[in-house]
Amino acid sequence: MCGIIGYVGEKSAPSILLDGLRRLEYRGYDSSGMAVLHDGVLEVRKCAGRIENLRKLVASSKIEGNTGISHTRWATHGEPTDSNAHPHFDQSGKLALVHNGVIENYQELRTELIELDHTFKSDTDSEVLAQLIGRYYAEEENSTSLAARLTDAIKKALSRVTGTYGIAIAHADIPGLIMGARLGSPLVLGLGENEHFLASDVSAMITHTREAIYLNDGDLVTIRKNAFEISALSGGKADYEISEVELAEDAAEIGDYPHYMLKEIHEQPQALRDAMRGRLSKEDATAMLGGLQMTSRELREVDRIILTGCGTASHAAMVGEYLLESLARIPTEVEISSEFRYRNIPTDKNTLQFVISQSGETLDSLAALREGKRKGCRVLGIVNGIASTIARESDGGVYMHAGIEIGVAATKTFTSQVTILTLLSLLLGRIRHLSTTDGLELIAELEKIPEKIRTILDGADRIKEVAQRFSATESMLFMGRQFNYPIALEAALKMKEISYIQASGHASGELKHGVIALVSKETPSVFIAPDDAVYEKNVSNIEEVKARKGPIIGITTEGKTGLERICDEVLYIPSAPPPLTPLLSIVPLQLLSYYIAAERGCDVDKPRNLAKSVTVE
Ligand code: AGP
Repeated sequence: MCGIIGYVGEKSAPSILLDGLRRLEYRGYDSSGMAVLHDGVLEVRKCAGRIENLRKLVASSKIEGNTGISHTRWATHGEPTDSNAHPHFDQSGKLALVHNGVIENYQELRTELIELDHTFKSDTDSEVLAQLIGRYYAEEENSTSLAARLTDAIKKALSRVTGTYGIAIAHADIPGLIMGARLGSPLVLGLGENEHFLASDVSAMITHTREAIYLNDGDLVTIRKNAFEISALSGGKADYEISEVELAEDAAEIGDYPHYMLKEIHEQPQALRDAMRGRLSKEDATAMLGGLQMTSRELREVDRIILTGCGTASHAAMVGEYLLESLARIPTEVEISSEFRYRNIPTDKNTLQFVISQSGETLDSLAALREGKRKGCRVLGIVNGIASTIARESDGGVYMHAGIEIGVAATKTFTSQVTILTLLSLLLGRIRHLSTTDGLELIAELEKIPEKIRTILDGADRIKEVAQRFSATESMLFMGRQFNYPIALEAALKMKEISYIQASGHASGELKHGVIALVSKETPSVFIAPDDAVYEKNVSNIEEVKARKGPIIGITTEGKTGLERICDEVLYIPSAPPPLTPLLSIVPLQLLSYYIAAERGCDVDKPRNLAKSVTVE
């Protein structure tokens, strides 16, 4: 949540900061701002609303300078207003700070500072940090230099803070210098020629540099035009390495699509090919996942798997649970990260935990990872964000290689996660009971999935028609069984987050245990009923809804007839073995939610109140 970027160099800071913020907008978009140092003064521009508002503000009220910090916000403490937008300043007005994270004990610190005659201009937790650092800076008179004085003040203030932070700080008295620190929120140092960057994510600086250092929790960093220094907040040296950034500069371009979400839905065939590339062995009829860093013997000893994730990743995990149990016969549990971190789930030495995360920065999932490691479990990641915190802290894992996903609603990363969980199930299955023939058959079917998705996408116009018919609805139910129960949950999440329709997903079998009370002429039910062992059971449930006059959209397999008689609309997916149907059935449902949201005039890529990367608890 929230994106920050700082720049020190020879170029014009405002345009670099604006471009970086535009690329970080997925992290939050309710207000933004920047502070740029010029002739010993920190000039600030900030406002509520999208980055576009800030761009207009900076264009109409110009600022200049080669050193600056900036921020795009997702509100935690305080409404999204001009005054709550970052940067925030200390009492002297000379120290500016941008912050990503949450200062949990801010109220107590704020009260303490107010008693010392500090006045606050915002309702944010972040301003407390700016004021506290400023206070210690004012008190530190014996330092050898102003930079050393600021370093000491930052260390002292952060030692009093409970919570998480990725911060960047500039001081009017110290030209050409920015300091930063991180704990629980990402911060990356970009190395350029005669310039350095500090940002929440490499995408913010990709047009300027390919060399980055991913900072660790507890790091303190100082950047100048020609130098940088990383040390530990607790004192002493910090370990770091320089990484080459692989992200394509145009990866975040929207092309001819009206929204990133639609583009990303259409990228699924390629994303799935990339998830499988080099990971299937026909010779051994298995999957090769070297990143797990486990031998066959070690994998053989695994007797229980725990899959953790949030939101869409937890739905992918649920599909994974069905896959691992049916293909590999390994007891598997799914636990949403925010619960896992506070539960006390018994584990043993043969329990393997996976953390599934697109961003690799979701705080709850990171906490679940750390909790698993604390218990002595081997914790692996299934992550899209290269070199993200979860990727770096895992004991190993599998990268999704889905490419950057900008739309807040996860689409291609969901199918990519499910693909990787299928590969994992194949690998673990082949170590256990799955025969060569079974393995080869699964590989052959899996390889056909991208093309089958392509045919669903080719039929998007038909899905758009259905969307238009139901776009005015205010509530929807989604139902599925077995492998497609998690798809009902995921489809409902897609619908509610981008179209603001009250939607809920259920196991079809639960209908008569309560959900059926919601069935009415005004509430359409979507049934995911491919041609599988539970098709007839789904049909019975559809009849129950039909008998109560509920409108019905059915999703079934091409060539399967019968639903047309009882459903108001039927959408078709190509035939596939039941374990692979989730990879297909979710696609028309992603498109359905997309077209409904677009029809309702919703801001599809940036839904209200949400952010792509949830780095606060
Ligand atoms: C999905 O559409 C949501 N944006 C959200 O549920 C998301 O999947 C969740 O926040 C987890 O994010 P992660 O995969 O980056 O950890």
